[in-house]
Amino acid sequence: MTLRLISEGAESKIYADDSFGVPLIVKARERKGYRIEGLDESIRRGRTRKEAKAMCKARESGANVPGIIAVGRFSIFMERKRGKMLKDVRFGNKEMRAAGAQLAKLHAAGIAHGDFTPANIMLCSNGPCIMDFGLAGIGGGDEEKAIDLLLMKRSVEKPQFSSFIKGYSAYANHKPVLKKLADIERRGRYKARTLQTV
Ligand SMILES: Nc1ncnc2c1ncn2[C@@H]1O[C@H](COP(=O)(O)OP(=O)(O)O)[C@@H](O)[C@H]1O
Ligand SMILES: [Mg+2]
Repeated sequence: MTLRLISEGAESKIYADDSFGVPLIVKARERKGYRIEGLDESIRRGRTRKEAKAMCKARESGANVPGIIAVGRFSIFMERKRGKMLKDVRFGNKEMRAAGAQLAKLHAAGIAHGDFTPANIMLCSNGPCIMDFGLAGIGGGDEEKAIDLLLMKRSVEKPQFSSFIKGYSAYANHKPVLKKLADIERRGRYKARTLQTV
């Protein structure tokens, strides 16, 4: 394998590989020297499995998500998508609406993404592709879902968010989530948390 490092996050490194004749991405959770070894391994293994599980479930929901090819102890091998991240392009209401429809599929399947911002959505030829399920949760309630909306709301302009919600309304139970979003905003909670993740 000839791995090319293409991105480095707080938790993981993203490599591209072409040695199998298919464009691959390898997302690898690296060892953190400040954690004792046994604990570090179990954290990385647990998070890798959790992310892979959420990705599989997300794909089953019909959302546009990279297909998983293999899962190692600390790494996920997945299909490499072509496109630009939403945060790096000028996007309009059409893209926002499509992104909302993607989130509707995830939420209908009981998946909250956990970091649903333009930094984790790639615009591909077949529409927005949702990436980075590192913070995703399965089976959460409306609160977790509302935080997905809140993060997006804080990342885009008002009219864009309206289009996003139009797409999101494809989720049959969207109303209680919108209500929860209004509650959260009124309470002013999650400020610190969202500032960290946006
Ligand atoms: N399947 C993929 N296809 C193409 N590019 C990808 C893929 N997965 C990740 N990337 C690229 O790597 C970047 C970081 O991936 P991500 O999963 O968001 O990692 P992190 O958890 O470090 O934020 C993405 O913004 C995207 O540019
Ligand atoms: Mg990311």
